Amino acid sequence: VRFSRCLRAAATDCPLPGTAKLDVDWKDLGFEFRPTKSHLKLEYKDGAWGKPELVSEPYIKLHIGATALHYGQACFEGLKAFAHEDNSVHMFRPDENAKRLKSSCERTMMPVVPPELFLEAAREVVKDNMAYVPPYGSNGAMYLRPLMFGSGPRIGLQPADEYTFLIMVLPVGDYYKDGLAPIPALVIEDYDRAAPRGVGNVKVAGNYVADLLPNMEGKKKGFPIGLYLDSSTQSTIEEFSTSNFIGINKKEKKYVTPKSSSVLPSITNKSLMDLAKDGGWKVEQREIPIKELETFEEVIACGTAVVVTPIGKVVKGDDIYNFGDGKTVGETTMELYTRMRKIQNGEEEDKFGWNVQV
Ligand code: PLP
Ligand code: COI
Repeated sequence: VRFSRCLRAAATDCPLPGTAKLDVDWKDLGFEFRPTKSHLKLEYKDGAWGKPELVSEPYIKLHIGATALHYGQACFEGLKAFAHEDNSVHMFRPDENAKRLKSSCERTMMPVVPPELFLEAAREVVKDNMAYVPPYGSNGAMYLRPLMFGSGPRIGLQPADEYTFLIMVLPVGDYYKDGLAPIPALVIEDYDRAAPRGVGNVKVAGNYVADLLPNMEGKKKGFPIGLYLDSSTQSTIEEFSTSNFIGINKKEKKYVTPKSSSVLPSITNKSLMDLAKDGGWKVEQREIPIKELETFEEVIACGTAVVVTPIGKVVKGDDIYNFGDGKTVGETTMELYTRMRKIQNGEEEDKFGWNVQV
């Protein structure tokens, strides 16, 4: 599939990041839906991908029998693009999102978006929305939300024969309202997120609807974030609703993160593991018994949306595990956060080659 000439022409006339008029300051974006200039849409019909289009209308016309609506044949991705001081804009590891989208599509019987098409599409939609990329220094980012779903009708349970791939983009800031500050986590004991041989390791829509109720119940009890255990034994740590788990054992200079067939392989975690190794830390990816929480001085939730979020304490029924004073960001957490953000902002050499210029 090639991009149409008109798409390219539209994209060459690029304004600078941070020049769009928003109803909020670039420093106070939060993580909310905000309209932008366009999204990119690409349809799959008759066994082939069509032409990508940039569309300004945020509504889509959808068949009432679409498999996404009835049977949840849908998956998505999340990645960010950052403005550097020279106003160039760079996506963070989009090739990794293309790979993970492929694995989600394969698991849900949807056609794969070829990685080179994914990259080109991501580039084009960011270029078209350049004015909405938060400016350098605002601490915001352009969030890209690639979405793939069965748009063709079926009533018997089988995959659709038509699909829609789109990339929505929006400027975002902090996911949690206080930014880089420790938050308390509640271990979710009444619900499971994912089964060992289910779909927890891919980014399908159904994983997130399963978490809405536990998430809301936890928030009502004063916990902005919930931590899931493994669903078969309820004895090892899996991950948070929207992010991976990292435990920092300073005495042994170890970075510990769960290995499980039902955890989403996080691109942020993968990157932080490289940074930790580079900083002389031992990285262990293995089962983590809940009791091991006692050995961590710092705990981190990591992901594209939450970046590096310090966890001040983990509560499981009557058991409370504290990390630091619950108010100050731990030293190792701060180091990892700072290095990652400096690379993303173009303030530190990108020695791993993670940034892809738009
Ligand atoms: N785990 C879950 C369940 C997620 O939804 C996400 C977000 O994408 C992550 C982990 C973090 O993954 P990544 O770092 O690739 O954004
Ligand atoms: C992301 O971090 O990109 C995610 O997809 C998490 C989302 C549920 C906010």
